[in-house]
Amino acid sequence: MTDTPFPFAPQATDTILDWTRARIADGPDPKHGAQSFAALDPVLGGSITAGGIGADAAFRLFTDTIVPSTRPFGHPTSLSFVASAPSRAALSFDAALGAAGIFAGNWDGGAGAIHAENQALRWLSDLAGWPDSAGGVFVAGGTLGNLSALHAARDWRARQVDRPARWALLCSAEAHSSIKAVARVMDVDVITVDPDAQGRMGGDAARAALTQAGPERVFAIVGNAGATNCGAVDDIAGLADLAEDFGLWLHLDGAYGLAALADPAARPLFQGIEWAHSFIVDPHKWLFAPYDSCALIYRDAAAGAAAHGQQAVYLDTVDKAHFNPSDYAIHLTRRARGLPLWYSLAVHGTDAYGQAIARTRAITQDIAKGIDAMPGVELLLTSDLTVILFRPSGMSEPEMETWAEANRRSGALLCLPTRWRGQMVFRLCIVNPETDPAQVLGVLGSLTGDDV
Ligand SMILES: Cc1ncc(COP(=O)(O)O)c(C=O)c1O
Repeated sequence: MTDTPFPFAPQATDTILDWTRARIADGPDPKHGAQSFAALDPVLGGSITAGGIGADAAFRLFTDTIVPSTRPFGHPTSLSFVASAPSRAALSFDAALGAAGIFAGNWDGGAGAIHAENQALRWLSDLAGWPDSAGGVFVAGGTLGNLSALHAARDWRARQVDRPARWALLCSAEAHSSIKAVARVMDVDVITVDPDAQGRMGGDAARAALTQAGPERVFAIVGNAGATNCGAVDDIAGLADLAEDFGLWLHLDGAYGLAALADPAARPLFQGIEWAHSFIVDPHKWLFAPYDSCALIYRDAAAGAAAHGQQAVYLDTVDKAHFNPSDYAIHLTRRARGLPLWYSLAVHGTDAYGQAIARTRAITQDIAKGIDAMPGVELLLTSDLTVILFRPSGMSEPEMETWAEANRRSGALLCLPTRWRGQMVFRLCIVNPETDPAQVLGVLGSLTGDDV
């Protein structure tokens, strides 16, 4: 063995790969979940030592303590927040990608990986009906994608009009919390528009709010292409008209919902997307890829590059003639986090993606129908995508919380409460084509004492 400060026996690598193989085959344990600091610290607190605890002991901490104290978002019974449902192909490949150690910030470092990632971005651009000029980059998550897109939007707008005293963006009151976080980072105001009863921002309502707020200060309209809490898709065509009329940038937050572009039957929901200036979609949500990745795409990639990129003398040797992903978002070093999506797409084909999305939507409809038929449970909303909101009429808020926690602990179902129109309700968001409606309805039957 060469002299190295970090000796590591091949058997230790085997141990890790064996566990990885089993985990990918079996999936996560639905009974796993967060543990308290008090439970974790006695085990993990002393794990960094001067001499090291060795490969076996360190990996045992991972398998026996770290993994069991995390939420099993990839399990088919995990129906809260926006979970994740990575394909086995994508998960397996991700392990290899880690081993390959590719620097994908610029072409010099990661040409092949970047070219392959761009195939996946091209697929998404084609689904949106965008021209050859479209392009972008995979960033860590939707928050960073929204920030990078909206920075490009303001940069673009600032080249057309005089800078106002305060910039503002306009979005639905149902916009994801990341939009407000981005506005804080950018130090811009947020003009919110009240959505309709289904949580959808209409073009007319947005127009009225824009006119009232003063369009001169606004640089972008942010449309929901799948609002997180209620699944609503805004009136994208109406928003595109509005953006066109006032010379504004239209950004679509499709972190969750734009995955449904892959299903031809769902595509009409996004009518008007062809006129948007940018969108994001997170493959780690509903495009069957592992954490973490967000596809950020500009209809005109040059507008993204005009706003981003870093210059430094030590970077002068980087080949600027080629496509450098670091020029399209707020980052420099990056892993080729779009490659697990590329690999899974290449393996299974895009039709399989369309079918998986269609199946997830069908599962949602089946569950919603079952809930609607339950006595004592009010179905409040079934989105066109995969969010369901409902309320058991006989339960108090603390009882709802207790019920949710009991099912989380037993591993039967992760179904947590949210708030809708001022009251606590249960929310399901299904992104896993392996979710079994009968199993879910069986658990929900305990809300009323009836097993379905
Ligand atoms: C619609 C929407 N936008 C943005 C985000 C933020 O994405 P991320 O958590 O990947 O930063 C989320 C996360 O759930 C989301 O649902």
